[in-house]
Amino acid sequence: MKKLRVGSVLLAGIVAAGAAWAHGGATGIVKERMDAMSDIGGQMKAVGRMLRAGSYDPALVSSAGATIAGHAGKTLVDLFPEGSLEAPTEASPAIWTDRAKFRAYSDELQEAARAMKQLADRGADMQEVAGAFASLGGTCKTCHEAFRIKK
Ligand code: HEC
Repeated sequence: MKKLRVGSVLLAGIVAAGAAWAHGGATGIVKERMDAMSDIGGQMKAVGRMLRAGSYDPALVSSAGATIAGHAGKTLVDLFPEGSLEAPTEASPAIWTDRAKFRAYSDELQEAARAMKQLADRGADMQEVAGAFASLGGTCKTCHEAFRIKK
């Protein structure tokens, strides 16, 4: 089997990033978007684990890509109504002062998730899918750095 060239460090980082999140006490729209993000995180973890194990499963990649894309774009933006900063949210107020950028990042998440799904559906090999997975992971990081306050 061809060796995975996508940095295993990056893969490990993505998996770790989703490992420890807690949103105890959240209610309403804050809970809804934390649940959506947790689902996204869980999908990423599953794909990351599969890639690291080297046991390529295109159906898993396809369904993870579809699920993540379904949470992204406008659907995600709508989970952030103006001023919804109730504890224990980690959302940054910058989301509402820089709405266009936030929307663009949410669209990038959706496009990257669809791209990964399409590769898997087209019968791409694991190497290509790993590349798409890394790009997808990059969209998480970009948005979190700009719009998520780590508590
Ligand atoms: C468009 C911006 C954006 C993108 C893209 C994005 N996130 Fe998030 N994410 C956020 C924000 C903002 C929060 C904080 C939400 C809150 O606490 O109200 C968050 C929170 C989270 C959380 C914590 C949820 C919780 O229960 O507290 C996880 C896990 C997460 N994101 C995973 C991911 C993963 C994995 C990706 C990429 C596949 C991703 N996110 C892409 C903006 C984004």
